[in-house]
Amino acid sequence: MEKFLIEGGNTLHGTIRIQSAKNACLPILAAIPLIEGRTIIRDVPKISDIDNLLHILAGFGVKIQWKNGDLHLDSTNLVMNEINVETAKKIRGSILVLGSLIGRFGSASLPFPGGCNIGARPIDLHLNGLRDIGINVRERNGMINCIAKRAKSSAVYLDFPSVGATENIILASVRGSRSVKIINAAKEPEIVDLVNFLRKCGACIKGEGTDTVIIQGVKKLGGVDYTPIPDRINTGSYMCAVATVGGDVTLTNVIPEHNYSLIKKLINSGIDITYSTNSIRVVKDINNNKTKLQNSSIQTAPYPGFSTDIQPQLGVFSSLKKGTTIVTENLFENRFKVYEEIAKLGAKVCIKDRKATITGVQRLVGGERENPVVVKANDLRAGVGLVIAGMAASGYTIVERADIVARGHEDIVRDLAAVGASISLICMEK
Ligand code: UD1
Repeated sequence: MEKFLIEGGNTLHGTIRIQSAKNACLPILAAIPLIEGRTIIRDVPKISDIDNLLHILAGFGVKIQWKNGDLHLDSTNLVMNEINVETAKKIRGSILVLGSLIGRFGSASLPFPGGCNIGARPIDLHLNGLRDIGINVRERNGMINCIAKRAKSSAVYLDFPSVGATENIILASVRGSRSVKIINAAKEPEIVDLVNFLRKCGACIKGEGTDTVIIQGVKKLGGVDYTPIPDRINTGSYMCAVATVGGDVTLTNVIPEHNYSLIKKLINSGIDITYSTNSIRVVKDINNNKTKLQNSSIQTAPYPGFSTDIQPQLGVFSSLKKGTTIVTENLFENRFKVYEEIAKLGAKVCIKDRKATITGVQRLVGGERENPVVVKANDLRAGVGLVIAGMAASGYTIVERADIVARGHEDIVRDLAAVGASISLICMEK
């Protein structure tokens, strides 16, 4: 098993270019079966979640080629095949091919998906939404079987603005003759990006980025050349890293608007942040600590609220901030495991149900080189939070389960070492 070995204490200086968004690339790639033709998706991160989805697409006959970081895909001739159960279980994004297979073949059969270890992650909103638009959905022996019975024009009301359910219903409705209105749709930038991609392919969709999305089915979608948006979560992670560890780093290939909720919280905590149309500069001078004693709160919510995907990283920042921070996690119940781990480095966190109370401490403390403090990533974002904690702690920290971080970061060691972190990937016996 690969692990990160980190020697803390270095401040970060320089520039990091942010990769394209995992959560935009996944639904865009899931849409490929809907297209008859060749598509180029530019600047796709080489991460394990994408590899697994490509494996699923290849099973349907999509021809796939990587060329200089771009994906060249040919989905002209596809065959209806069974999806490999093991691969489907590895990524939750596999559920998204359900909608696009229904759109292409009129039916689909899929194992229940897997994903991060952050909670129960039900898919009832996906399946009920598909039922509402006239798809016959049956769940049996760990499989989901769908058949498009009739083209039913309809309104789907989502009890919660689920990102995946919104994407799946869009994908299932985009081809054909039905008109579908999604009410209480998710408004995440990745949904807007998926719609921009589909529209370029010939789809007819309105209202993306608002809570009502209207899809008018079209007969066919054609291949295009498309560049997905930058990863706002990785942007936020690196902003938290600089804010926690100190230094002066400029993040490029970003859309600052997507990170406004985090920018505001960091500025309120005394971090200097400036931004232009496509870059964000984060400065924290550790010798001139402007951080005031300030109690604060983090409440996770659907976009444009504060993202659950940045909660662990900002939580780690808060563990070294003067004052108390109350974190309320409203989306995924297992997102507090990171705090049990940073407690091993000396953080003070008290957890009760969906609330974590973080009392800032002066320092986090790692171990000796021969005897580092060992912490373990429970999920991708917790893993990044632990890497930040290791960089902030004195001495040595090992973060176990580097493979979980590789689900979302092409090369976090490359990115952080380039701005001065002492971090390496090591392979150790258990
Ligand atoms: C997506 C993101 C993930 C992010 C999450 C919330 C991708 C690939 N992943 O995940 O990084 O953390 O949005 O911003 O884009 N829910 C149900 N029933 C359902 C679906 C969801 O109850 O059928 C609940 C979930 O348990 C959760 C909430 O709705 O509490 C939000 O989940 P959802 O927006 O669907 O997240 P994902 O699309 O899985």
